[in-house]
Amino acid sequence: MCPLNRGKVSMKSHSKRTIAACLGSLDFRLGWFHRYPARFSSEVLRQALFDIAASMGRPPASILDPFAGTGATLSAAKQLGIPSYGYELTHLGTLIARVRLNPPASPEAALRIALMLANRRRTGSLKRVDPSLIPWVGESNAADIDYLLREIDLVCDSRLRSWLLLALSSSLRPSSVWLSGSIKPQIDPRRRYTPMRDHFVRCAMRLEKDCELESSLFVQGCPSIVKQGSSQILNLPSNCIEAVITSPPYGSMYDYYDVHRLSYLAFSWPRFSDLQIGRASNIDRDGDGFTAPRTMKRWYQYYGKEQSVEGRLLAGDDGKCTGDLSRT
Ligand SMILES: C[S@@+](CC[C@H](N)C(=O)[O-])C[C@H]1O[C@@H](n2cnc3c(N)ncnc32)[C@H](O)[C@@H]1O
Repeated sequence: MCPLNRGKVSMKSHSKRTIAACLGSLDFRLGWFHRYPARFSSEVLRQALFDIAASMGRPPASILDPFAGTGATLSAAKQLGIPSYGYELTHLGTLIARVRLNPPASPEAALRIALMLANRRRTGSLKRVDPSLIPWVGESNAADIDYLLREIDLVCDSRLRSWLLLALSSSLRPSSVWLSGSIKPQIDPRRRYTPMRDHFVRCAMRLEKDCELESSLFVQGCPSIVKQGSSQILNLPSNCIEAVITSPPYGSMYDYYDVHRLSYLAFSWPRFSDLQIGRASNIDRDGDGFTAPRTMKRWYQYYGKEQSVEGRLLAGDDGKCTGDLSRT
């Protein structure tokens, strides 16, 4: 059994070589879950875990990610049997992390419900979604989103409700006229609206696979807690954290709210922009006339790789993922 699964292990009983051998074969996997920006790749996480375990002489007994985003660190920890805590400011990041760490009891059944909802006739009139969503997704899609939100609200099981909401969030951009690949809200005049129900089904199918992939590796009973709020104030018991693994906000690139503006409009979620770390660093809030700063040109160049889970981000100068966290 991997020493990481046993909590505290002394340096005497496990040499650095043992840790290296163990970590080298660490079998955690990261699914896609959502088009959320600036995510950890499994290589980076593996390297970070390795470095920490090697410097401590044993694997950490607990991990904190104060900028948890989609909860990749927490998922890896749960797959390795390490208790973990995460803080995430945004509603979307928190939703993704909670769904991935605590998926519905049967993702397969969740998918069946998504299919059933997507095939039902729409009833009622549009009342819930923010009208400024309409230019992005079109009237018919906006009405469908409104209908699905009302149906999802009726679901009693909170894990299932969150799962459906996440699939719905994923389907917004593909059905909209958002400039494909842009991290800023920009309309592409050449794009046409496409039926969001189709995207909802496709996203739900993908979400089901991701949940199956990760949760089959979770160590049962291993706690992972995601708190929604700013990590500027950590409300944690003393001495409960042994290691911190994180990827801080990319201040000059992303506004973590605006990059998913459609979800915030559709779900009427609040934005705590003032608490967003790095927000002061010249983030262009709107896409109008937006030109990529020099630092981002390279990012666009590697955009194709960003589409794959492993090549998601943290690319080095050669475009390959790097484990050297000082370069991220
Ligand atoms: C680079 S991302 C982390 C991504 C994460 N490592 C993953 O794999 O998904 C940085 C995160 O920090 C969050 N953030 C920004 N300011 C914050 C704050 N004051 N407290 C907590 N989280 C914050 C952003 O919303 C964003 O999700």
